[in-house]
Amino acid sequence: MKSLLLIVGGLVLTAGMAVAAGDEALARRVCTSCHSFKRVEARFGQDQAAWEKLVGRMLAKGAAPQISDAERAAVVQWLASQK
Ligand code: HEC
Repeated sequence: MKSLLLIVGGLVLTAGMAVAAGDEALARRVCTSCHSFKRVEARFGQDQAAWEKLVGRMLAKGAAPQISDAERAAVVQWLASQK
């Protein structure tokens, strides 16, 4: 039982690290499915709350790719870390 808890704890930690690092490849893939990445780069330097709002607006559009909450958080994290 104790080892099972350790495994689960390790998985949660790994997922958390992926989010903290952000995900550039995923951001580029998701955000260029409708328009050029230049449009995204034009907004670099915004804070996380602003990206959160913008990504929410983009992904609410009809043709947006479906991604998980964790993937979405990784995309926002990466965008917010760009200057
Ligand atoms: C489903 C298609 C679609 C996807 C996916 C998409 N966008 Fe957009 N985006 C649009 C359209 C359409 C516009 C122009 C109309 C508007 O501003 O809503 C736009 C405009 C923008 C703009 C310029 C408008 C502004 O307010 O500055 C930015 C920045 C932007 N998108 C960022 C992103 C980012 C970041 C992602 C990835 C998370 C993304 N988009 C994914 C369709 C999309």
